Amino acid sequence: MLKKFTTLVATAALSTMLLTGVALAEPIVIKFTHVVAENTPKGQMANKFKDLVAERMGGKVVVEVYPSSQLFGDNKEMEAMLLGDVQLAAPALAKFERFTKQVQVFDLPFLFKDMEAVDRFQSSDKGQALLKSMEKKGVVGLGYLHNGLKQLSASSPLRVPADASGKKFRIMTSDVLAAQFQAVNAIPLKKAFSEVFTLLQTKAIDGQENTYSNIYSQKFFEIQPYITESNHGLLDYMIVSSSEFWLGLPADIRTELEAIMAESVTFGNKIAGQKDLEDKQKIIDSKRTEIITLTPAERSQWVEAMKPVWKQFEKEIGKDLIDSAFQSNN
Ligand code: LMR
Repeated sequence: MLKKFTTLVATAALSTMLLTGVALAEPIVIKFTHVVAENTPKGQMANKFKDLVAERMGGKVVVEVYPSSQLFGDNKEMEAMLLGDVQLAAPALAKFERFTKQVQVFDLPFLFKDMEAVDRFQSSDKGQALLKSMEKKGVVGLGYLHNGLKQLSASSPLRVPADASGKKFRIMTSDVLAAQFQAVNAIPLKKAFSEVFTLLQTKAIDGQENTYSNIYSQKFFEIQPYITESNHGLLDYMIVSSSEFWLGLPADIRTELEAIMAESVTFGNKIAGQKDLEDKQKIIDSKRTEIITLTPAERSQWVEAMKPVWKQFEKEIGKDLIDSAFQSNN
């Protein structure tokens, strides 16, 4: 009976295909993994991409978003992408060190004075060339996405570099960031983003650096009594895919996806600017932490202390690249 039914269904499906002349193709599934909360610039950008693809390419492509290290944490997301377990990721620029040294330019302390300077550099020829800097390793850069400038949160007030001396700070996996903290005699520890809250809560570390949106959405402000508004470095992302997957897509699909990606990034960047201000205000309103504003003299002490890091990485990153990034401030 069951066999007869199965045969009937198969025959019906075959005649539909013969009548319409097309086999109903399975949609291409794109899994987009990331480590932050949904209510962040990256979380919102990823969801926007998913929605726009559903609206405009429904049936042909389906995007699934996995936030908050649900699928892969930041120690695993690049490997997972290269193995084809996921197709899109957007790690912080500090997390590409294993693939290229050049992208580390973005980690240099006090390099960009504001996000407009970052925009100018990212859209310049040199900035765009960096999107291609990992192609030999099988990684294609599809675009940059903003989060914003980083602040320092800590268990004790940090006004001058000497206040950080001997303190342990969690950093992303970047030697430049390690050197930045060593420059003020602090102890940097490379740890995954998903571990930071527990490390702070258990006092295994004294502080960390991040944007207001991450400090707010991860609730770091609830367990860190001080935030120094240092704006000392950049937290931006590169949206990446594996060359194998991306370049293997039918050209028309890829072109359509790239246009939707560009639109989603514009949306994400707008959110980034807004969230930076909104989440700072929410942190202030919570009264859980004190935001320390540096005087110009205090700030210049941090700038001076961290400046040697540029020279230290000049060879690896390239002087030309550092100079171009710095000139984007004008
Ligand atoms: C971090 O690890 O602190 C950030 O890169 C997390 C993120 O993706 O914003």
